[in-house]
Amino acid sequence: MISVKDFTREKVIYYIQKAENVEKLPKCSKTLINLFYEPSTRTSCSFHTAMLKLGGNIIEITDNSSAKKGESLEDTIKTVSNYGDIIVLRHPEKGAAERASKVAHVPVINAGDGNGEHPTQALLDIYTIYEEATKDLLKENITVTFIGDIKNSRTIHSLIHLLNLFDVTYIFISPPGLEIDTTGLNVLNATLEEALKITDVVYITRIQKERTSETYEPICLSKELLSSAYPDLIIMHPLPRQEELPPEIDDDPRAVYFKQVAYGVRMRMAILDELIRTMQ
Ligand code: CP
Repeated sequence: MISVKDFTREKVIYYIQKAENVEKLPKCSKTLINLFYEPSTRTSCSFHTAMLKLGGNIIEITDNSSAKKGESLEDTIKTVSNYGDIIVLRHPEKGAAERASKVAHVPVINAGDGNGEHPTQALLDIYTIYEEATKDLLKENITVTFIGDIKNSRTIHSLIHLLNLFDVTYIFISPPGLEIDTTGLNVLNATLEEALKITDVVYITRIQKERTSETYEPICLSKELLSSAYPDLIIMHPLPRQEELPPEIDDDPRAVYFKQVAYGVRMRMAILDELIRTMQ
């Protein structure tokens, strides 16, 4: 799973339904290789947990790989293909997962490639919207407001591809310089205050300081801003967070970002099982 670009609406619904029913998945004896060239808590740990829940095994490769001795990504992938059945790859370069998939002898899952994509996060995000905002996602228009570093957020890039398969109105609020090209998207212009009154989903993300040499002022949520916001909206964040999402909001019932983390395990179990079934 390298990109969400070839996903269909039916495929998204299939994964959502599969994630809802992970308790029924069969056990496996496969080995997952977690190969992370960038820091991760959620993606790495949730794939690890998902594979353990499916009965499989894990090899974790992080700081001590021979990449430190100058080994190329291609050589590492060819090597670790001999040790397991699925590679989960996080890498700082856009396109790294695609490069890896061309030389791997086993399936590669893109766990984030620079400011490119993060397809499994997008699937768990749309699953979270389905469970927490509205199951009518599948048939009614919803409004999704993206706030923050939209330019460098691979989670947002992938999620927009999936949301485009449904009837979605977008509001984008970012510091100047961190926008994306919204050509072809159904966009509504609104201030932050206006957006919070009408949006079904707020998806806020941090400034990706590791991907820019510039300094940007973050756009932050607050209890005060949320006091006049739409009572049924949900607040999502891929995490980790910084000052844009203060912990004072955590006890707001509309804050679902830690539920989003939990949905990640279910979705990654669904994704792994789907890949394992293609090997049989
Ligand atoms: N959401 C996400 O990718 O988090 P991690 O960087 O902790 O994996």
